[in-house]
Amino acid sequence: SSTRLEAENAVCQGTVDSDHAGYSGTGFCNTTNAVGASVEWTVNAPTAGSYTLGIRHANGTTVNRPMSVAVNGTVVAAAQAFPGTGAWTTWQTVPVTAALQAGTNTVRLSATTALGGPNIDYLETTARPAMAVALE
Ligand code: GCU
Ligand code: CA
Repeated sequence: SSTRLEAENAVCQGTVDSDHAGYSGTGFCNTTNAVGASVEWTVNAPTAGSYTLGIRHANGTTVNRPMSVAVNGTVVAAAQAFPGTGAWTTWQTVPVTAALQAGTNTVRLSATTALGGPNIDYLETTARPAMAVALE
């Protein structure tokens, strides 16, 4: 099973907007167009282990808007790519794999360029199957 955490309920460094259709919940986080612009979720994981962090986003430009991904303050992806999705109303989910601890975690995305991040809709966490992890 998966847990969806809407970006409009996270700490959004920017504005919570709803002017581009197709988002989940009541809106999305429009990060400020600046280096370091961030969105941070508090994630409660039922058990420690490897999780897929699905990041739903839209980028209506043709230019990549990379963000670093940090879990509990440790960078797990230094420059996760968020290329153009074709339109601000076209939302896609990018998967990042990371370990979560049981209980409270923080997942923070931070823009690494002056373009800021894409618009961020939600974070969806899914525990990875034990067999997939064992085969790594
Ligand atoms: C437009 C768009 C915003 C987006 C912004 C950007 O203003 O409407 O949703 O966040 O571009 O380039 O970051
Ligand atoms: Ca923006």
